This record gives sequence, C-alpha cells and structure tokens, in this order.
Amino acid sequence: MLSVEHVTKRYGTFTALEDVNLAFEPGVYGLLAPNGAGKTTLIKLLATLLFPTEGRILWDGEDIHTLGAEYRGLLGYLPQDFGFYPSYTARQFLRYAAALQCLPKGEAEGRIMELLDTVGLADAADKKLKTFSGGMRQRVGIAVAMLTDPRLLLLDEPTAGLDPRERVRFRNLIHALAADRIVILSTHIVSDIETIAGQIVLFKDHRLYCCDSPARICAQWKGKVWQVPAGTALGPDQLVLSEGQSEAGPVLRVLSDTPPAGAVPVTPGLEDAFLAIYREEGRA
Ligand SMILES: Nc1ncnc2c1ncn2[C@@H]1O[C@H](COP(=O)(O)OP(=O)(O)OP(=O)(O)O)[C@@H](O)[C@H]1O
Ligand SMILES: [Mg+2]
Repeated sequence: MLSVEHVTKRYGTFTALEDVNLAFEPGVYGLLAPNGAGKTTLIKLLATLLFPTEGRILWDGEDIHTLGAEYRGLLGYLPQDFGFYPSYTARQFLRYAAALQCLPKGEAEGRIMELLDTVGLADAADKKLKTFSGGMRQRVGIAVAMLTDPRLLLLDEPTAGLDPRERVRFRNLIHALAADRIVILSTHIVSDIETIAGQIVLFKDHRLYCCDSPARICAQWKGKVWQVPAGTALGPDQLVLSEGQSEAGPVLRVLSDTPPAGAVPVTPGLEDAFLAIYREEGRA
C-alpha cells in the first residue's frame, strides 16, 4: 500500500537517512529511535514536505509526488511542533483547519462534532485552546489530522508532554483509529508504543535497523538480560542497561551472554531492547 524504496535523504552533505526500505499496511507503526535519528525526516518525506535525495515512495505503486494532491487528500499529519491559535476554541480551530482542507461547510460541522467526541473533547469544544493542557492540545491536533478520515495518519511525537492518564487515553484513541488505516507515529518513549504498535521501526546510524513486532524485537535478547543487586561486580562484557528498585532493594538490569554472579534471568522488555540496541551511543 505505502512503500519506501531505497530512500536516502541528505541535508547538504549530512545524510539523515540512508537507503531505507519499508512497506506499510493498515495497522500501527512506531518509529522508535533516539533524538536526531531521522524520525521527523521520514515522516516529512511521507507527508511530501521533503523530497528523497535518492529512492522513491509509492502509494499503491505510484510515486507520491506524481500523485500530488490526490495523495495528500488521503493523508493526515500531526507535525512535531503543531502551531495553534490560543484564542480559538477547539471547535473554531477545527473549523479553520477544515476550511484550509476545503471540506464542504455542511459536511465539516458534523465531522467536527464527531471528532471532538472521538478524542474526548466534546465537553471542551467551546473552550479556548490557551486553557487546554498539553494532552488536550495534542488531541485537538489528532482531530485536525483526522478531519478528512485519512487512510494514512502520520503523528510526529504525539505523546510529548502527556501525563500518564493522557498517555493511556492516547493509546486507546490510536487503537480505535487504526482499525482500517495506516498509522505511523514517532516517539523516543518506549512505553508509549510498546502496547499499541504492531510493528516497531528502529533506525541506527541513519539506516533502518529493523521493522518488526515488539515481541520479536524483545525475543532477540532472550537469555541475555539479568537482574543483579546494585553493587554486584560485573565483567567487561556485562553491561548495565538500567537501574531500578525491587522489593529487596536497588537492582541493575544487565546485558550479558553469561549470567553475572548472583543474577536472576529476566524477560527482556522493549526498553531493554532499545537500551541494548543503542548502547554504544552512550544513552544507556
Ligand atoms: N533542515 C535540516 N538541515 C540540516 N540538518 C537537518 C535538517 N533537519 C534535520 N536535520 C538533521 O537530520 C538529523 C535527523 O533529524 P530529524 O529531525 O529527522 O530527527 P528526529 O529523529 O526526528 O529527532 P527528534 O527525536 O529530536 O525529533 C538530525 O541530525 C538533524 O540535525
Ligand atoms: Mg523529530
């Protein structure tokens, strides 16, 4: 349906993405990578806001730049820094966005009410955006991106700044929206997509590292993640992934092919996999 073929994007001499190949079908895809990895670059390429330096992006076999307006008509996009007018109400802002997208007025009103309800803002429809929390604003952004009932929904860091309750609400919303469309969302927060993304796309060194289910990504680290009490002496090949607390006191999660002294094997989670994959980048 949507395919990325040998796409390279350079900014001047800097290569942000190199030879990326991906195929998307309806479902939720999480672009999970550290800051600067190229998530926004890929989303902007998919949104036709950037041209690939090399390679091409196809929708049902046709180049998205050749399809032009036809392709943009089936696309919803929430930018990483989504601008809004603080003195507009949610309803006014959606009306404005609907007009920009040339939605017929009669059709727009019904759609706006329906969407405000979907994103849980029906009661706040006539409140000004400046009074909204970060999560409420993100939900307005998602409603804007959903105005045309897009077959492809691109959300760049939609969970930035959300509190835990809003994160749960967001996850449920994405589940509901993803039934029959492609949803691609970027984040560097593992827990935000662990449970909602069917497929996780990881970039490393500006190349595609993998596109796989969370379970399969985690399975690669099976038998290699251990928990030890904090302060345990570790060998040179035994790498601390994270520190935490257990009932018995402070503990470390350690990546190692062989068990460290006193270690308990633990089931690797997506966070362990993320930390293990990006360990040389000094982020663990
Ligand atoms: N217009 C530009 N000109 C030059 N370099 C750019 C430009 N836009 C992005 N870059 C660089 O390309 C790389 C990828 O940037 P991108 O914004 O795609 O990363 P990201 O994964 O979205 O990061 P973040 O998590 O911080 O949003 C970064 O090193 C960035 O500095
Ligand atoms: Mg970004």
